[in-house]
Amino acid sequence: MGRDSLRQYRYFLKDSIRKKVDFSQTDQNRGVDVPPIEKPYQTDAVRIDLVKPGEWKNIAKVDLATAIGNRRSRRIYRKIPLQVEEVSFLLWATQGVRGKIVGGHAYRTVPSAGCRHALETYLAILNVEGIASGIYRYLPLSHQLLYEFSEEQLASKIVDAVFGQPYPGNAALTFIWTAIPYRMEWRYGLAAHRVIAIDAGHVCQNLYLACEVIGAGTCAIGAYDQEKMDRLLRVDGEEEFAVYLASLGRV
Ligand SMILES: Cc1cc2nc3c(=O)[nH]c(=O)nc-3n(C[C@H](O)[C@H](O)[C@H](O)COP(=O)(O)O)c2cc1C
Repeated sequence: MGRDSLRQYRYFLKDSIRKKVDFSQTDQNRGVDVPPIEKPYQTDAVRIDLVKPGEWKNIAKVDLATAIGNRRSRRIYRKIPLQVEEVSFLLWATQGVRGKIVGGHAYRTVPSAGCRHALETYLAILNVEGIASGIYRYLPLSHQLLYEFSEEQLASKIVDAVFGQPYPGNAALTFIWTAIPYRMEWRYGLAAHRVIAIDAGHVCQNLYLACEVIGAGTCAIGAYDQEKMDRLLRVDGEEEFAVYLASLGRV
């Protein structure tokens, strides 16, 4: 691998790009409308109400030091379904909205550069009590789960889309985070992409810690076939594409 290529790709990790961006020309500063906080959906789409924070009955109180100390990547799952309340907790922990929506942004349980929150959360559900297998999407604003579609042989298709890594096939569900880059580009232009990647790390870390609380385990997955994963999610691969995954289940 040539040094030039390494240098070129290392550039992505640096914030040098910021000095090259003319921020007066970003869409935000040109007065273009702020993009939607969450991806729009058909109003007649099937939505499942999730259990709200404060209404949880079976989420254990585990102290933070214990959760952090126990955290590890867990790739072997028992075939016991997760409960809707647990899934509600995991979604809240990773993308839940806290507080008011002000000026086109909503503060959440995770930080995000400029509060742009350019990620969407899809769930490939295989084994959650009371929810049929299929692809769903979290709606942070209403704390609901949107039914996207069902997919024959979902387990084997996810495994295939992560280059044969077996754990998503045995998981109760897999989180698949996509980016809608324009949400961040609207504010930061070419300086948007590095911070989207940084944002994804916070989200997944909260998933790891939340899993420790409910007796589940997760494993981050950064190695996947981009085109297969985007096809599986039925996203266009340009304005929205997969960036990160995490399989999880009871341990
Ligand atoms: C960005 C990222 C991508 C990862 N991708 C994968 C993956 O594709 N497959 C996998 O089995 N583990 C993956 N992991 C998990 C790491 O292998 C794991 O975090 C590491 O071995 C340390 O183990 P620990 O998480 O138990 O501390 C990934 C972790 C991160 C943070």
